[in-house]
Amino acid sequence: MKTRLVTLLILLWILFVSSCDIPRDPYFDVATSAANSAPTLDPYPVSNSETSEIPATPSATPTRQAEACPGLPALHGVNLGNALDAPWPGAWGVTMTEAMIQSIADAGFNATRLPVRFSAYTGAAPDYALSESILATVDQIILWGLDAGLIILLDVHHFNSLMQSPTTEEARFLAIWEQLASRYQSLPATVYFELLNEPHGEMDAETWNRLVAQSMTLIRQTNPTRTIVIGGVDYSRIEALEFLVWPDDPHLAAAFHYYEPFEFTHQGASWLAGSSNWLGTSWTGTPDEAAAIQQAFDRAVDWSNAHQIPLILGEFGAIGNAESTSRQTWTGAIARTAERRGIGWFYWDLCSEFGLYNCEKGKWDKDLLDVLLP
Ligand code: GLC
Repeated sequence: MKTRLVTLLILLWILFVSSCDIPRDPYFDVATSAANSAPTLDPYPVSNSETSEIPATPSATPTRQAEACPGLPALHGVNLGNALDAPWPGAWGVTMTEAMIQSIADAGFNATRLPVRFSAYTGAAPDYALSESILATVDQIILWGLDAGLIILLDVHHFNSLMQSPTTEEARFLAIWEQLASRYQSLPATVYFELLNEPHGEMDAETWNRLVAQSMTLIRQTNPTRTIVIGGVDYSRIEALEFLVWPDDPHLAAAFHYYEPFEFTHQGASWLAGSSNWLGTSWTGTPDEAAAIQQAFDRAVDWSNAHQIPLILGEFGAIGNAESTSRQTWTGAIARTAERRGIGWFYWDLCSEFGLYNCEKGKWDKDLLDVLLP
């Protein structure tokens, strides 16, 4: 097992390094799929102003595109939501298996984001030792992902107490990263770290920037070149990228999340009071609707180019309560809008309310999958 793992890690590393030299054309799929996709799934009717951005040939130059990070491939990923980000493993009905991870790779995704509520598994101060059982579970999922050839974005999720009280909780946050960084330092570069999911609440920009700097210094002691992903405050909205103070480091990526229009993507969400009033909200990709997405993503790209930091769309998704054609149209619009701008994406999520896979039956929602990976 150990020899197999070492060989696998070496192979993955060679693959990863060589892939940096291949000029990537994020437009190739778009140009092909634009010609092939069913009209109902095309969020960009001819009247839409962005159609001029769709190149006639795959080699056409985009008008706006985020600079590619050396070694940051075109990510097409899915979030393993509601598994280890739940209050305890299995609490929200999702338990990851090797078969599920393999299905993700077989379906054509090249990446997965693993959200973990690490703060629920820490011991007493000052060490805040993470429980061996959660670490062993995370190890296992990472190894399954690497075995399946997936890039893995490991993220500290639902650290609610940190959002409520950053000053009293920051030592726990730093201790978590010290342990994760040390444990995973020898994993291949295809494992990325994301510092914190959706900073919000009392975690204002000033506090977050200070914690980013502290945790980066700490992680870099053991992981000098690992890709570290950082989202802005206010739930990692695009607008919050502007408040981030970036450490001087060539191996960073900026994350943002996109769930707009919220009343559409979160209609009937069981955890949101009043969201049942939004049931029936549709999204057809009218010129105005499409333009809102394009403007938002252009803003992110402008920020990215100005700061020379590549972007990752770490979460986007529409809840299964939404009528399926709208859901497909919206999902396709977001994925293509991101791809055209050289932004890697992670759909939220695999098999919960927003999911596109039935984890019990091992079955994909084929229509939604085809929209994501045409
Ligand atoms: C959020 C969270 C995730 C949640 C999802 C849908 O922004 O990161 O935990 O389930 O989006 O609301």
